[in-house]
Amino acid sequence: MEYVVTTRDLTRTFGSFTAVNKLSIKIKRGEIYGFLGPNGSGKTTTIRMLCGILAPTSGSGTVLGHDLVRGAEKIKQKIGYMSQKFSLYDDLTAFENLEFYAGMYSIPYRERKNRIAEMLELSLLEGKERELVANLSGGFKQRLAMACALISRPAILFLDEPTSGTSPVSRRMFFQIIQRLANEGVTVMVTTHFMDEAERCYNIAFISEGMLIANDTPDNLKNNVIEGCLVEVDLPGALQRTGDLEKLPYVKECSIHGPLLHVLLESERDLDALNRFTGVAATIIRPSLEDVFISLAKKAKRRVT
Ligand SMILES: Nc1ncnc2c1ncn2[C@@H]1O[C@H](COP(=O)(O)OP(=O)(O)OP(=O)(O)O)[C@@H](O)[C@H]1O
Ligand SMILES: [Mg+2]
Repeated sequence: MEYVVTTRDLTRTFGSFTAVNKLSIKIKRGEIYGFLGPNGSGKTTTIRMLCGILAPTSGSGTVLGHDLVRGAEKIKQKIGYMSQKFSLYDDLTAFENLEFYAGMYSIPYRERKNRIAEMLELSLLEGKERELVANLSGGFKQRLAMACALISRPAILFLDEPTSGTSPVSRRMFFQIIQRLANEGVTVMVTTHFMDEAERCYNIAFISEGMLIANDTPDNLKNNVIEGCLVEVDLPGALQRTGDLEKLPYVKECSIHGPLLHVLLESERDLDALNRFTGVAATIIRPSLEDVFISLAKKAKRRVT
């Protein structure tokens, strides 16, 4: 199996605080690898180590065969990275931004024009090349930032919350581009808080407090993580009633999903008791990724407290 990223017990501390704790992951060539976890769980810190811009405190890892520490310079040249606070020049046009990054990556002059045209096409920015970045909407800016990260045709692309703050249509477009890249053999590691995006990943790693809590395909996570019987209830005033419900001996967890309540029962046999308690008929449902992550985050929290 060809792995383009491997880490073993990768750890990073800041003073006495451990941001990434013995993380061991493997990423295959051409896969879309979703990296999920609550705020502050260590996603950006991990990505910065994988990009060769932050040294690990202990543990080891490789990216495209290069050691994270000894090969950091090589890694930086070979990867594409779109940071959470990506930087574009507002007072330059889309084209000029791409030209700037082409220069940074020392793309030969004679290739630059073609390469930039290729990036504009790939990132669905054709027709916008002469616009000042300041005048572009959020979705266009994000696609331009991705195009800049791709200008050197990297074998692996690290995207740190690339779609935060943009519309569902923009997010969908962005993921279509990612899927096209993956089909061409580019490996993409992407952090996101959006479940519809996580759903499109081939593999998902979920981290909490710097530790790997789960790592599997979306389908396997949905089938295997939740133990018990998940039901959906349309309960008036649900928000006020979760506390009471969670006190019931056969209820493991409760969470609000829009106007509906998801209740995790010990088993299907508890359904009648729940219905009698609420006075409403609950329906058994298949867990969504959101259910999986709420459950994982709660489990992780229980473990530390
Ligand atoms: N340079 C630093 N010095 C001290 N602490 C840091 C530093 N960088 C990150 N941290 C801390 O490490 C923890 C993990 O941060 P990180 O940015 O990796 O989280 P994250 O999962 O990317 O969060 P978010 O979803 O909010 O982007 C946080 O508690 C953060 O405050
Ligand atoms: Mg982050």
